[in-house]
Amino acid sequence: MSGLAAFDLTGKVAIVTGGNRGIGRAIALGLAQAGAAVAILARNAERNAEVEAELERIGQPTHADILDVTDRAAIAQAVGRVERALGPVDILVNNAGNTDISGGVLNQSDEGWDNALATHLTATMLLSKSAAQSMQARGRGKIINLASMYSIFGAAALPSYAAAKGGIVQLTKSMAIELAPHGIQVNAIAPGWIATEMTEVAREDPDWRDFNAMLMARTPAGRWGEAEECGGAAVFLASAAADFVTGITLPVDGGYSVF
Ligand code: NAI
Repeated sequence: MSGLAAFDLTGKVAIVTGGNRGIGRAIALGLAQAGAAVAILARNAERNAEVEAELERIGQPTHADILDVTDRAAIAQAVGRVERALGPVDILVNNAGNTDISGGVLNQSDEGWDNALATHLTATMLLSKSAAQSMQARGRGKIINLASMYSIFGAAALPSYAAAKGGIVQLTKSMAIELAPHGIQVNAIAPGWIATEMTEVAREDPDWRDFNAMLMARTPAGRWGEAEECGGAAVFLASAAADFVTGITLPVDGGYSVF
């Protein structure tokens, strides 16, 4: 397959966790625009319905379901419901995430630590396990995990988040090696500083003005990224154009990680 056809996702079934806002929503819409049937699994029913309506307007089959990705027992059931609604899953995007700004390990709560690892790392493993069992039977599949600049750099104020995101990169590489013989590619996207609700405080709060200025000075592009700018990277990694790409972490960061 060559040319633009290699990016066509027509007939594919995708799951995006946390897909009802921010980067997850942008990825869900991008995958649907490329032709995929998209399921979003997230916690807020009202927001799920809003994005489901947006997906329907694109014209692809869609499905939205409530899932808290830290609820281990619910994961395989949710994937099963997607498959009954849309068909076997071809693409999994492990996007759900939150931040735990504890201020550092000296101030780190057990709850914050456990939740960060459960939300990012354990959920990514369990969702991937569930989806890969299905993909393996068909000898193909794509798993895309959301990493971070804090997968690479340390974060004194949010060590749980940085530890979890660092783990995502190693989990991505490990699953890529294991699953390559089954025709399943596993990659990560590492967004730089993207304007979403998660990062609103850093953009809007006067107390964070110096931090915001430091970020922009350190980002060669000199601006915050838009959630939609992660959509194209996801379409590429989900497509046949990336069939020989596995185990990588692709920065979408305006050059932050190379400066
Ligand atoms: P966001 O806060 O706008 O959206 C995150 C989504 O995940 C929300 O729908 C939220 O409800 C959902 N979520 C959180 N915990 C969940 C749980 N336990 N179960 C189900 N859903 C849950 O954040 P944003 O910016 O869109 O982030 C998306 C991903 O990208 C996250 O993994 C984040 O860590 C990562 N990321 C974001 C960056 C940024 O600058 N915005 C930078 C680097 C990584």
